[in-house]
Amino acid sequence: MDRQPEVAQPRPAPSLRAEGVTAGYGGVPVIRDVSIAVGPAEIVAVIGPNGAGKSTLLKSLVGILRVTSGRVVLGDGDDVTNRPPEELARRGVGYVPQVNDIFEPLTVLENLEMGGYLLPAARIKERVDEVGKVFPALPPMLKRRADKLSGGERKMLAIARVLMLDPKVLILDEPTANLSPKLADSLLHEHVKRLAGVGKAVLLVEQRARAALEIAAWTSVLVSGTTRLEGRPQDLLRRPDFEELFLGAGPARTAREESDEKENEKS
Ligand SMILES: Nc1ncnc2c1ncn2[C@@H]1O[C@H](COP(=O)(O)OP(=O)(O)OP(=O)(O)O)[C@@H](O)[C@H]1O
Ligand SMILES: [Mg+2]
Repeated sequence: MDRQPEVAQPRPAPSLRAEGVTAGYGGVPVIRDVSIAVGPAEIVAVIGPNGAGKSTLLKSLVGILRVTSGRVVLGDGDDVTNRPPEELARRGVGYVPQVNDIFEPLTVLENLEMGGYLLPAARIKERVDEVGKVFPALPPMLKRRADKLSGGERKMLAIARVLMLDPKVLILDEPTANLSPKLADSLLHEHVKRLAGVGKAVLLVEQRARAALEIAAWTSVLVSGTTRLEGRPQDLLRRPDFEELFLGAGPARTAREESDEKENEKS
């Protein structure tokens, strides 16, 4: 029994799990019967082509989009299916959306303060200091307007804003979109990994599938609204067809990368 070569670490008990979730827009399901779980100090990545339903899945987990069947559960059995987003935030689920992730006309400090809206005033100030230690680039720019930030600074602020409530679970929708490959790498390898390192359960949607596989303990491949494949990255990568099917530069991926590059040229 104790001679098992290459035994992977067991996955932690989930902090958040979705069981057979179906959700969509205007009564039409976009994701069907999707299950996923993430536990403390674990990074779980969801990858898949444009339009696969990755953002839809995240929105259904955090109460922005109605779950029509299935459940969303916190910890060891706290059913939060279709609870409002504020309640999820109060219960320790932080969500950084793919777009509209900060308030542009406000300063960095004001954005952080708004992120702490559920806290007593004195606590907000303390949290700004604590979050500043997680992202040391932020404290020197507290007075700057958020719309003046670079792409990388902006994403840091978006994550920092959500960290204000010290969430147990952090849900990130494509945090590296519009970042240069170098910045994307440092965001994932330094910041996202560090957040898992301090015990956060991190559920990450990423277009940069390879980079996601490098940092994730578990990966789910979403295609056309259903889970096509899931497993540990090293196991997925061992499959002979995986590269070709899911890491190849399909048309959608190429278009996205091109637009990312254009975006980077601007900044
Ligand atoms: N608000 C909406 N109303 C109606 N349909 C929507 C809405 N948002 C997304 N959809 C549709 O749902 C499907 C899944 O979209 P979703 O944004 O979840 O994909 P995604 O995997 O996050 O894609 P991307 O990688 O481009 O971000 C798409 O067909 C999209 O057109
Ligand atoms: Mg999306």
